[in-house]
Amino acid sequence: MNSVIDLETTATDYRDFAHVHTRAHSPAYERISAAVAESEELLTRLVALPRIKRQPNLLLAAVRYLGGPAESAEAFVEWTLAHWEPVREVMLARATQTNEAGRCATLLPLLAALPQPLALVEVGASAGLCLRPDRYRYRYDGAEAFGADSPVTLDCATTGPVPLPAALPRVVSRTGADLNPLDPTDPDDTRWLESLVWPGQQQRLDRLRAALAVARDEPARIVRGDLNARVAELVAAAPAGSTPVVFHSAVLTYLPPDARARFVATMRELPCHWISNEAPGVLPEIDARLPRPAPTDRGVFVLSLDGEPKAFTGPHGERLDWLD
Ligand SMILES: C[S@@+](CC[C@H](N)C(=O)[O-])C[C@H]1O[C@@H](n2cnc3c(N)ncnc32)[C@H](O)[C@@H]1O
Repeated sequence: MNSVIDLETTATDYRDFAHVHTRAHSPAYERISAAVAESEELLTRLVALPRIKRQPNLLLAAVRYLGGPAESAEAFVEWTLAHWEPVREVMLARATQTNEAGRCATLLPLLAALPQPLALVEVGASAGLCLRPDRYRYRYDGAEAFGADSPVTLDCATTGPVPLPAALPRVVSRTGADLNPLDPTDPDDTRWLESLVWPGQQQRLDRLRAALAVARDEPARIVRGDLNARVAELVAAAPAGSTPVVFHSAVLTYLPPDARARFVATMRELPCHWISNEAPGVLPEIDARLPRPAPTDRGVFVLSLDGEPKAFTGPHGERLDWLD
């Protein structure tokens, strides 16, 4: 039986997604998420799914993947109710695996400041688009772009004393782990990744397609499995003379608290650097070291190096607010 609390919690998640996360980025999803929060019929179907599958991003992407409408909130709700069975099947078969190369613009200052060359290890890598930071161009605050000869240019607005790098990091190995690695050469996987981009964000869609082309050209090894089970072997495989760096963004939120704690303990023990880029609340021990609270009027991540918070970042890499 659906408890009233489940219905209310799910409605609140969709309201937050509308008013905090998509408001400034996708008017269509802002309207649709707000409408889902008011549709008892749709909420009732959502709460019949496992908790992790009720996520706004997952529902919205599933409907997009199946060709449902995104122009009007009423049409979205009506279509989704009428096609609930296929929508449900996609939601159960797929997961939120948004792979955002743009996040490399927020990781770059930390990566470039470490002893080079780097052995990159990304946990929760999806299709591995963040494993190629040395294959992209970067433009901070509209200044002249620098970086690789690349079809991908990442724009990022900054505040605070960001240590902008003079050179790209040198990468000697790129490996990762994911529960379900996505294949940049697989048409269905790439269609799913495209479905996860919000309507109206043509620039993100173009960036995704260009980054997938880079990924097809520059291989990375992504092993299937839980990050807690696989991370130590990936660090151990770093080439001699390189600096192993384990990093992740928008991943630990999917782990239960005990698994997050296990991962943090592992990061403190392994001979590697650790870069975390996760939403506030995901790693409370890092949040506790923040010099000021995270903004609550927009989506942000907390960027940290070896457990020390360094910046608030835009969730798709569009902002980097360095902490004093
Ligand atoms: C939202 S995506 C983020 C992808 C990538 N880190 C980025 O920033 O573009 C989260 C990824 O984490 C993976 N994931 C979630 N839980 C995991 C776990 N316990 N072990 C390994 N990967 C996991 C998912 O499969 C998904 O690909």
